[in-house]
Amino acid sequence: HKPRIVVIGSCNTDMVVKANRLPVPGETILGGTFYMNPGGKGANQAIAASRLGAEVTFISKIGYDLFGLQALEIYKSERINTDFIFTDQKNPSGVALISVDSFGENSIIVAPGASRSLSIEDINKAEEKIKKADIILMQLEVPIETVEYAASMANKYGKKVILNPAPASTLNNSFLNNVHTILPNRIEAEMLSGIKVMDIDSAHRAAEAIGEKGIENVVITLGKDGAYVKEKDQYTIIPAKEVETIDTTGAGDVFCGAFSVYLSEGHSLAESVTFANAAAALAVTRIGAQSAIPYKREIVL
Ligand code: RIB
Ligand code: NA
Repeated sequence: HKPRIVVIGSCNTDMVVKANRLPVPGETILGGTFYMNPGGKGANQAIAASRLGAEVTFISKIGYDLFGLQALEIYKSERINTDFIFTDQKNPSGVALISVDSFGENSIIVAPGASRSLSIEDINKAEEKIKKADIILMQLEVPIETVEYAASMANKYGKKVILNPAPASTLNNSFLNNVHTILPNRIEAEMLSGIKVMDIDSAHRAAEAIGEKGIENVVITLGKDGAYVKEKDQYTIIPAKEVETIDTTGAGDVFCGAFSVYLSEGHSLAESVTFANAAAALAVTRIGAQSAIPYKREIVL
């Protein structure tokens, strides 16, 4: 069967402005064109997994508003199971304010809105789906209690949990014990390990320190420098493809979605990282988060 992936996470609408550089505090700068795009780390990863060949159930919460309804329509058109997308009557759908500089680098503020009320009760409603899944993929734009609860439920059923610890946060070891593979970027790896990731040596030390919290597999994504992989006691760097970067927004999400699909198809961790690198390389050459997500047929290994 197709890999069955349950993604638990946020739904946002992204308000994006491109500028030559990001403003400093107190500064006003003129930017370029404004784009309004569908986004949210949860949604981006769900769509990536679906486009790359998985049967995806997305567990999320939207507001009772236009952004939420629009997002729901998009997920349906992406062949995602939306039975567990709940509606919050009180809070608006999530929004992200995104600035992108001339190097394609971004900075993001998320107003989670309805995402903040995705609850343990909501996870309980989807228990049957979690039971039948191959992999549970999560990030940190929904409450940590909910993510921790879902991880322990997944663990009870012997399911692999893949965690993208974004936005950066410190995490309990008891929670990390329920995670099969963690996929932090440089900033998130520093938050988890206390080690600033600047080169291979520091990436190694950070991966080691995160591993010591009780996780076997750590993949630190390093953008154009590829990914630093700790698989049990083995460490390797897997280089990225060289591409022309236009917009890195959502590239990390494509990486996570792609990694999860390939891993659940039975490939090794290293093969899954290579596949994820290739998918993310395509994503950075295109504008936007979801609009940039590649389809399986586009991936060249
Ligand atoms: O990872 C990129 C995503 O982060 C954006 O789509 C934005 O909505 C935030 O969740
Ligand atoms: Na992009």
